[in-house]
Amino acid sequence: MCGIVGYVGSRQAAPIMLDGLKRLEYRGYDSAGIVVCSGEGLTLCKTKGYVDHLSDMVCNGDALRGTVGLGHTRWATHGRPSDENAHPHLSDGGKIAVVHNGIIENYAQLREMLVAKGVTFRSETDTEVAVNLISYFYKGDLLKAVAEAALRLEGSYALGILCEDCPDMIVAVRKESPLILGIGRGENFLASDVTALIPHTRDVIYMEDGEIATLTKDEVRVYSRDLVEIKKETARVEWDISAAEKGGYEHFMFKEIMEQPEAIRKTVSPRLRGGRVQIEGLDFTPEYLKSLKKIYLVGCGSAYHVGVVAKYNMEKMLRIPVETALASEFRYSSPLVDERTLVICISQSGETADTIAAMREAKRLGAKVLSIVNVMGSTIANESDYCVYTWAGPEIAVATTKAYSTQLAVTYLLTLYFAELLGVIPDDEYKKLVEALSELPEKVDEILKNKEHIQYLASLYFNKDNIFFIGRNIDYALTLEASLKLKEISYIHSDAYAAGELKHGTISLIEDGTLVIAMASYVRLLEKTISNIVEVRSRGAEILTLTTKSAEAQVSRVSDHVIAIPDAEEMVLPSLAVVPMQLFAYYVALSRGCSIDKPRNLAKSVTVE
Ligand code: G6P
Repeated sequence: MCGIVGYVGSRQAAPIMLDGLKRLEYRGYDSAGIVVCSGEGLTLCKTKGYVDHLSDMVCNGDALRGTVGLGHTRWATHGRPSDENAHPHLSDGGKIAVVHNGIIENYAQLREMLVAKGVTFRSETDTEVAVNLISYFYKGDLLKAVAEAALRLEGSYALGILCEDCPDMIVAVRKESPLILGIGRGENFLASDVTALIPHTRDVIYMEDGEIATLTKDEVRVYSRDLVEIKKETARVEWDISAAEKGGYEHFMFKEIMEQPEAIRKTVSPRLRGGRVQIEGLDFTPEYLKSLKKIYLVGCGSAYHVGVVAKYNMEKMLRIPVETALASEFRYSSPLVDERTLVICISQSGETADTIAAMREAKRLGAKVLSIVNVMGSTIANESDYCVYTWAGPEIAVATTKAYSTQLAVTYLLTLYFAELLGVIPDDEYKKLVEALSELPEKVDEILKNKEHIQYLASLYFNKDNIFFIGRNIDYALTLEASLKLKEISYIHSDAYAAGELKHGTISLIEDGTLVIAMASYVRLLEKTISNIVEVRSRGAEILTLTTKSAEAQVSRVSDHVIAIPDAEEMVLPSLAVVPMQLFAYYVALSRGCSIDKPRNLAKSVTVE
């Protein structure tokens, strides 16, 4: 949610920042801007629209000369997308420039105070309050002024700050919004995400809440809130630049769909040793697990949907009550959580504001928190008691695919790990499931090889206005994700329904030609789902059914079209069933000419409530 880049060195800053902003555009893309500092002061260019538009305006950066700069790509919170509201923002008088990710919650009081002191505001943003507050405290020492201002800013912020009086330095500060420092040779960088740093350096410092940093071309220093210098460790980013580029694919989403077999393999195989699940960093005891009254699975969007699948699998196998909760609801619902609750927070970015808040609330109530996170060094990874990383690599497309799949894979690993510790799984069953897990990449690959069939189906249905998804049990959990994927990128309205629930109201929406996608991979309830298919079919619905190869013939009799996935153990079926639905959403959006990687109004990392 909003991307920040900063550069200080000897090269021209603008082209470097434009490239960084392109890489961060998935975080928000309604406006963009850059500011550079040369000996002659600050020069700024900002505009509504994509980074490409900004790039054209500044001749790919050639029109802005200077070797120190900040850039920003925005997802609007305070103030509509417009040239004025785009970042960077200048202080009244133009001496200081700021880019910001987050929300200043007490901006109204601060603005009133600053207006009373004669400050003029030009935009509708909360950010302009931050820059003017820094300017208010500025008496020749920018670091001090930022520290003073940070003490008074409430809410969340990652700020990059430039001042024309110190043209060789960037100051940065963070609270509850990510900010990473990139360490180069004779140059240093700042970004919201490592994807913008990786073309230049793999050595990074993850800033933590309350920390303030100064960057010059020769050194990076980090300070605590009260300006005591802190010695920070430099981390090395392991993946290389190709992981964050399209590599010949038309869209990141498609590339990421195709990367799923490898991503699942990387996530699963290091944790299957000698036929047993072993997860680094987890030291749960049978006594602790037996003491649990409840497991909570918490997340937002697709990460929440992973939790819904995991609930079915965990509860069935562990016989412990498992609840799922949307992080935004959990935090304000006075959840019944204590030291006998294990809370599993699921998040690709590790920076989703609501999931962070849910995690903190769970810890405050005494629960242990285990997180499933993709981005190393992120807030949730750092603050949870245990973190199991997904090894999906960078995910750039706003609509998640490989992160979802690897999160699912981690939930299977956890289910087996807990089941063994609790002694609730017979050995032969355990072995069968371990094998099923290790076969997953191959089976996903097999589905991907048949993608043309899904493309054909998408060509039949891309013009629909409404699509209904139905399913039972884990298939119901999958309909939530399938429906979300479709609406996110194709803008077709769709609804996900438990198949047995449709007749309690929604069936009134079914008429001649309505498309119903039935997910029927959970063969144990196949007969029941077939009855529900027949109910809607007899009311005119067209039926596309997803099932396993062994059930294909049976469902063909009641369906217009069938997608058959390889047979597999029940627990891991969702990992197979979701793939055709990702492809379906992708091809439908492609046929409709939608902006697939950057769907309207969305952002990948939602760092505000
Ligand atoms: C956004 C994304 C979703 C994602 C959700 C949670 O809404 O568009 O794809 O599932 O945030 O993000 P997280 O990073 O916490 O998994």
